[in-house]
Amino acid sequence: MIVTTKELFAAAYGKFSIGAYNINNMEQILGLFRGNQQSKAPFILQISRGARKYAGKQILEALIRECDKMFPDVIFAVHLDHGDEDSAHDSIDSGFYSSIMIDASMESFEKNVEITKRVVDHAHEKGIRVEAEIGQLGGVEEHIAVDEANAHLTDVEEAKKFVEMTGCDSLAVAVGTSHGAYKFSGSQKIHFDRLQELNKALPGLPMVMHGSSSVPQEEVQRIEAAGGKLSGAKGVNENDLRDVHKYGVVKINIDTDGRLIWTSVHREYLRDKPAGIDLRDPGKQYMEEYANFIAHKNEVFGSANQIDAVKELLKK
Ligand code: G3H
Ligand code: 13P
Ligand code: ZN
Repeated sequence: MIVTTKELFAAAYGKFSIGAYNINNMEQILGLFRGNQQSKAPFILQISRGARKYAGKQILEALIRECDKMFPDVIFAVHLDHGDEDSAHDSIDSGFYSSIMIDASMESFEKNVEITKRVVDHAHEKGIRVEAEIGQLGGVEEHIAVDEANAHLTDVEEAKKFVEMTGCDSLAVAVGTSHGAYKFSGSQKIHFDRLQELNKALPGLPMVMHGSSSVPQEEVQRIEAAGGKLSGAKGVNENDLRDVHKYGVVKINIDTDGRLIWTSVHREYLRDKPAGIDLRDPGKQYMEEYANFIAHKNEVFGSANQIDAVKELLKK
């Protein structure tokens, strides 16, 4: 069942975090539904502009709506990840998305406020929730390269002003994580102190952690053993994410880890089955491994076995 992000956040706030997983194709969508069904977890399925362009937004919508029918016991929200103004307005009008992210964090404070406010006004008219971002993560976001060294953390006073001025419903904060497979070079780390300060200044406001893949070293080794090159790849220690719900983090974004599993499975298939030509063989294995990975992440985030709590809340 597709629910609003508002309902999921109400059930989770302060108690657990919800995994927000990026999908691009059928195998990821099926793996995601199976993994969440397995672990009885509510989840957020998120679609980036790149995914909409790659698979086609209608194809993704059709696949997800079919999965919604095939997995009637599963509860999830559909979210636009890192939207710009065009994709945000389009998703608001589509009637499919539960919530959208407008990411104007690369702009000046004033421009970020102006763009975000326009999107919030439109979204709220239609009952859609808005995630916005202030501060900049390191690493590479779609169309934006932010030098890790120059990445700046979310400023507490600015964040307060930003939320007041825009009316956004949740806030993506930059607290030291970054997108992609190469996080934390040198002395970089997650700034839990900043997260706590933000939570104190904005009590009750759902916060979102982007760039939270853990880049498991066993996955990196599998990829390298099968001919890939990922030396230096490093992610967030997943144990560091077990308690972030206590500081208002209700949504944790994961994309890269799913890409790593895809790469391991397909590299190994090509290495070990030189005569293999059936794309369904690695496809089946990927779906199974991805489903198991999702179930594991849900355990870490505390969302596993929370489906009944969400159902109870929905009855009220
Ligand atoms: O934060 C960005 C997500 O990992 C989405 O990546 O824009 O390449 O689909 P993408
Ligand atoms: P990762 O690159 O760490 O998976 O982050 C994904 C993300 O933040 C999507 O918005
Ligand atoms: Zn992100």
